[in-house]
Amino acid sequence: MGDIYDNVMELARRRGFVWPSAEVYGAVAGFIDYGPLGAMMKRRVENLWREFYIIREGYYEIECPTVGTEAIYVASGHVKGFADKMIQCPHCGEYARADHIAEAHGTENAATLSKESLARVIQDLPCPACEEQIGFTEVFEFNLMFETTIGPGSQRKGYLRPETAQGIFTDFARLLRFYRNKLPFGAVQIGKSYRNEISPRQGVIRLREFSQAEAEIFVHPDEKEHPAFGAYADYRVPLLGIEQQEKGQDPVVATMREAVDAGLVANEYVAYYVALTHDFMARSGVDPAKMRFRQHLPDERAHYAEDCWDAEIHSGRFGWVETVGIADRTDYDLRAHAGHSGDSFTVFVPYDEVRYETRTRIVPDMGVLGPKYRGTAKAIADALAAADPGEDGVEVTVDGERIFIPADTYEVREEEVEVRGDEVMPHVIEPSYGIDRIFYSILEHTYDEEIVDGEVRRVLRLPPGIAPVQVAVFPLMTRDGLDAIARDIVQTLSGRGVLTQYDDNGAIGRRYRRQDEIGTPFAVTVDYETKDDRTVTVRDRDTMQQIRCGIDDLPVLLASLLDGSVEFSALVQ
Ligand code: ATP
Ligand code: GLY
Repeated sequence: MGDIYDNVMELARRRGFVWPSAEVYGAVAGFIDYGPLGAMMKRRVENLWREFYIIREGYYEIECPTVGTEAIYVASGHVKGFADKMIQCPHCGEYARADHIAEAHGTENAATLSKESLARVIQDLPCPACEEQIGFTEVFEFNLMFETTIGPGSQRKGYLRPETAQGIFTDFARLLRFYRNKLPFGAVQIGKSYRNEISPRQGVIRLREFSQAEAEIFVHPDEKEHPAFGAYADYRVPLLGIEQQEKGQDPVVATMREAVDAGLVANEYVAYYVALTHDFMARSGVDPAKMRFRQHLPDERAHYAEDCWDAEIHSGRFGWVETVGIADRTDYDLRAHAGHSGDSFTVFVPYDEVRYETRTRIVPDMGVLGPKYRGTAKAIADALAAADPGEDGVEVTVDGERIFIPADTYEVREEEVEVRGDEVMPHVIEPSYGIDRIFYSILEHTYDEEIVDGEVRRVLRLPPGIAPVQVAVFPLMTRDGLDAIARDIVQTLSGRGVLTQYDDNGAIGRRYRRQDEIGTPFAVTVDYETKDDRTVTVRDRDTMQQIRCGIDDLPVLLASLLDGSVEFSALVQ
């Protein structure tokens, strides 16, 4: 077996899963096309994700533009801070990520180093493009956002979104109303994001246009217990916490309850989505033995994040690859948008019982204020009502002018007021998935080669719900009416929503092999016996075992096999 990446990508290109984009004009790194089978399979992965997040969690999906105005990304911090550190090789002129060069030669978490430290670390290392020793060269920052202009001229700057999340944050007030003003609630978005990656040398792992599936879950800051935590409380996941990383230890395998109780994971929400992510990925076809969750180290974590765990998947070519980030982002995003937009990003949270509080209130004496301040007296009275009384008086601002109002112009009253609740700025729990990395990992982990009858059988052991083509139908011969029966079966299955492929080309063994390598889980063969008793063979991709089944029973049987409610092995005598 050669390099796993080469084998998988050769198959992916040849059979129409993934192609370099616009190859006829010389493909540019960081852009890929999903071919007919790849686009279908990707859709199935995304739909499984929807099953988890929309149907089970109840977080509805929204769809926002991929182009955003400058204001959004100034507020979010991307204009200022969404940059990677890079160099231009003084020998060959190629650009490269300085932190990636350092990490490839053993420096851990190089992205957290300053530009000056990075320049020192990499000066003795070889350039990844020309392999000359880099020497001393400047490390500079490069903002990863693609910039554009909106409308003719160049007055209105825009950016292609670098994450889908911001659309959910900017729709916060409308979402809050949609969810009837109650926490917790969440929304998800699946779509393209864009990052002008400096030198995407890792094939399909690092793209300049990629698909994200993100959930933004808005929770009360003091209530981080997931209402359905019990569903994953006993779920075990390998966790590489800060301590394990610092001591160079292996991940600890813990239940989510243990992880939260031990303080390893910050709260139930984060732990719940760690487990759900593991569950989702295993059901997508990622090998659970090649998955772990790594906690961000304090200097790696965004300053506002309370806790952050990356789901990492092991690749034979790339090692551990970050595929999902699960973060407690506190109120950072909503606070930033509230500050920049001036809109409200809070939720009114009522108390269980009305509370009474004593408050001081300034009651202006209009008999004194009126003649003294004339036209501005009313505005001063309004400003006084919201001010805190001082000993001798109060300073208020009216029309930009600060005016000192002496204490003898108003009375200070203590009043008991009814308080029904608090305005709360929610915290955000964010699971953020990179669909393309999951897609590639599924191909790599399900790819298998074995020798059958002296020949290599290549097979993608995709879960039936993820395989692009679900059933193949073959007539043994294209005569004596066998092909007509086979086409009838295709029509019946297609009518039931099963993606079915008809193939009458070449020896039956070849046809099986063609389906095996695109992961088709079941193949139906029409033979001469079919004409006598209306039965066909159904063959299982993984075991290559066969059973006979009546044509009329096929749709129900295949539906149960495809949704996993029946195992093929249970049908074999
Ligand atoms: P990396 O360190 O690999 O650049 P990141 O830390 O920038 O990733 P996040 O900003 O956390 O990634 O993005 C969330 C998810 O989006 C990642 O876990 C990954 O799966 C995906 N992602 C990010 N950048 C890319 C990319 N250039 N190509 C493909 N997927 C990406
Ligand atoms: N929304 C998280 C990220 O893309 O980084």
